[in-house]
Amino acid sequence: MLVSSKELLLDAQKGGYAVGAFNTNNLEITHAIFQAAEALDAPILVQLSSGALKYAGIEFLPQIIRTHARLSTIPAAMHLDHGPDFETVMRCLRYGFTSIMRDASKHPFDENVAEIRRVVEAAHAVGVPVEAELGRLVGVEDHVVVSEREAAMTDPDQAAEFIQATGCDFLAVAIGNAHGFYKGEPKLDFDRLQAIRDQVDVPLVLHGASGIPDHQIRTAIELGICKINIDTEIRHAFAETVRRFQAENPEQIDPRKILGPAIEAMQAVVERKIALFSAQA
Ligand code: 13P
Repeated sequence: MLVSSKELLLDAQKGGYAVGAFNTNNLEITHAIFQAAEALDAPILVQLSSGALKYAGIEFLPQIIRTHARLSTIPAAMHLDHGPDFETVMRCLRYGFTSIMRDASKHPFDENVAEIRRVVEAAHAVGVPVEAELGRLVGVEDHVVVSEREAAMTDPDQAAEFIQATGCDFLAVAIGNAHGFYKGEPKLDFDRLQAIRDQVDVPLVLHGASGIPDHQIRTAIELGICKINIDTEIRHAFAETVRRFQAENPEQIDPRKILGPAIEAMQAVVERKIALFSAQA
C-alpha cells in the first residue's frame, strides 16, 4: 500500500522506533527491499536518488515500486532522496512520489531556507511531505580536520529557526554521520542530537547509516531519529555476492542465476536493519 511518509514517521516518533529508508536503483534491489519488509511486516520508505532516476528512468523504476506497493499489505512510501533541484522535485511529484527530500544544505542558511520554503509550498499543495537537511555530511577522509567537521554539523539553534521558517516536515541532521563506509568507528555527537531534539519537534532523519554500530543506532533512535537511510550496505551485499558467485561459477551466463543470490543477500541486510530500527529499547 503506497502511503505518505508523514504518517509513517509520526507513528515512529510516537512509538519510539525508526523506519528504514532503503535506496534502490533497479528491479532486484526493489524486490529485496519489499520482500524484507513483508517478511517482517514492517513499514518502509523506498528511496530513489536523482542518479537512480537517471540510471533506471523515471518512467520505469517508480512503476516497479508502485506495483510492489499495490500488491503488498505493508505501508510503503516512495521517496526522492537528496533532490538536487526544484525541477526534479516537480517531476517526482508528477510521477506520484509520496515523500520528497530537497537537499539545499550546501547553500548558505538563507538560500537553504528560501529553497525549502518554495519546495514545501509546491509539495504540500499536493499533500506530499518534505525532508530537508541542515548542516553538511562531510567525508570521513583523513584530511578532514575535527574543526572543519564540527563546523559542518547541524547547529541546534539554527535548526529551530529553520523548521519554523521553512515548514518542512522532517529534518536530516549532520552529527558526525557520512555517506559510504566509515574509516574506523564513527562517533555520533549525541549531545548535539539531544540539543536538536530539545529545539525541534519534527521527526529527525539519519543519513549515512551504513557501518554505524548497532548500539549507536539504538541511542540515536532513543534521541529522536525516526528515519534511517541505508544504501552502501545493500550495494556491498549485491557486489560481494555477484563477485563470489561468478568466481565459483565462471561458466554461468543466466542473469537470473547470477542475480538471484544477490537478491537474497540484500534482503538479509534489509531484514537485519528493519529488526534493529524497530526494536524497542
Ligand atoms: P549509506 O550509503 O551510508 O548507507 O547512506 C545512505 C544515505 O544516507 C542515502 O541518502
